[in-house]
Amino acid sequence: MTAVMVCNPKGGCGKTTLATNLAGWAASEGKRVTLCDLDRQQSSLRWMSFRDESMPAVNGFYGGGQLMASLPKDADVTVIDAPAGLQGYKLSDYLRLVDRVVIPVVPSVFDMAATEDFLNSLRSEMRGQRHKIGIVAMRVDPRTRAAGMLEAFLQHFDVPILTYIRPTSNYVNAAAAGRTIFDPPKSRHKQDLAQWAPLLKWLES
Ligand SMILES: Nc1ncnc2c1ncn2[C@@H]1O[C@H](COP(=O)(O)OP(=O)(O)OP(=O)(O)O)[C@@H](O)[C@H]1O
Ligand SMILES: [Mg+2]
Repeated sequence: MTAVMVCNPKGGCGKTTLATNLAGWAASEGKRVTLCDLDRQQSSLRWMSFRDESMPAVNGFYGGGQLMASLPKDADVTVIDAPAGLQGYKLSDYLRLVDRVVIPVVPSVFDMAATEDFLNSLRSEMRGQRHKIGIVAMRVDPRTRAAGMLEAFLQHFDVPILTYIRPTSNYVNAAAAGRTIFDPPKSRHKQDLAQWAPLLKWLES
């Protein structure tokens, strides 16, 4: 079983978008997937409630408010959607449970400033396990000034940028239908699927 946590205490940076799409990807690969929503807002579970039965199945689990002693054992892949603000001892407990930590970061000065303390604490907490952590540059095209700013900022933390996810309404439209870019029709999402490939390769490595 592989467990991936998507987290960043900054609100609105794309955690649920990444988590639901990761769950959709694993489901499309025929894996048994549990999407574990730690957020009281339950955005991931709401997304699941929109999901059509004809789509590859994702199981939902609400873990909000309590610390989970262990992860669901009957899943091949568990994706954890963390709430904004998750840090400190609660975050530490989850970090111990998971195999990979994916951190969406939007390259705005506000988002980067709000993420700085979190990345610092992660760096000390995950000493010797850096290979578990990766950044996803969210809502940005590479080769833009914003992407350059993000790269310069992240140099201080020695964590790789796994990929860049462009801003597109494809994610918004897919989410509204309980879908992901990995659900049919895939041809509509070619450009986005290509952007996900390095992240998926890293998760499988
Ligand atoms: N690549 C993208 N292009 C366009 N819109 C996006 C993209 N990624 C995320 N969004 C939109 O940005 C908003 C915030 O994303 P999301 O809900 O995934 O963030 P979050 O980190 O889970 O927020 P919260 O901290 O409130 O849980 C949503 O409306 C989502 O549809
Ligand atoms: Mg969310």
